[in-house]
Amino acid sequence: MTKENKMLSFDTKNNEFKDNYKFLIGSILPRPIAVISTRNEDGTNNIAPFSFFTAVSASPMIVAFCPMIKSSNGEMKDTPRNIFREKEFVVNFVTEDNYEKVNLTSTELAYGEDEFELSSLTPIPSEVVKASRMKESPIHFECIYRDHLSYGDNPGQGQIITGEVVKVHVKKELYESGRILTDEFSPVGRGSGNDWIKCSDRVQIERLMKSQIQK
Ligand SMILES: Cc1cc2nc3c(=O)[nH]c(=O)nc-3n(C[C@H](O)[C@H](O)[C@H](O)COP(=O)(O)O)c2cc1C
Repeated sequence: MTKENKMLSFDTKNNEFKDNYKFLIGSILPRPIAVISTRNEDGTNNIAPFSFFTAVSASPMIVAFCPMIKSSNGEMKDTPRNIFREKEFVVNFVTEDNYEKVNLTSTELAYGEDEFELSSLTPIPSEVVKASRMKESPIHFECIYRDHLSYGDNPGQGQIITGEVVKVHVKKELYESGRILTDEFSPVGRGSGNDWIKCSDRVQIERLMKSQIQK
C-alpha cells in the first residue's frame, strides 16, 4: 500500500484577508517581535508590538516592520500615524520577563491613550529621539524613519516602514565581547494564533564556509 502525500493548494487572490493572514502567521514561524514606542501628537506615549519585523541592513543599520490597516475600522494604526508625523520611533524587545505586559500593549485604545499605563510598563527617555524607551526591555534601538511602501488602504492591507537605528542601548549583563548572550536576553517570539515562543531550546550547527569546503 502506498502512502498518499497530498498537498492542499490555495489561490490567494480571491481569499478573504483573514484566510491569507492565517497562512502568513501559521507559516512564518517563529517571528521576532518589535515593541514599537512612539510619541502621540500631544507628547504622550504610544507603544505596540509588531511581529512582521526584520533586520534589513547593517551599515546603515536599518530595520523594517509592517503595520496593517485596522480590521475594526479601516484606519491606520496609531504607530504608523505617529511615525509619519514625528519621523522617529524606538524598537524595544520581548523577553520571558515582560511578554505578558507586552501582550497588553496590543490592546486597541483610542488615539492618544497610553498603552505604557495600561500594561504597567515604564517609559524612560531616549537619548536621540523624543519617543520613550521601555525600561523592561534589555535592548533598545533608537530609530529615525527612512521610508515606507504601502500596499493599500483597506483592512488587512499592509505597509512596510523602515527606520535607521542611530543608537543602540543594551543591558550590561547581556553583552560580552561584542556579542549579545541569548540566555541572558531570553527573547520571546510570536507563534501562530495566540502562541508565543521561548528561545530556550536551541541547536547549534557550524556553518560551512567555502574555504572550509575546499580544504
Ligand atoms: C505579539 C503581537 C504581534 C503583533 N504584530 C503585528 C504586526 O506585525 N502588524 C500589525 O499590524 N499588528 C500587529 N499586532 C497587533 C497590534 O499590536 C495592535 O493592532 C495594536 O493595537 C496596534 O497599536 P497602535 O494602534 O497603538 O499602533 C500584533 C499583536 C501582538 C500581540
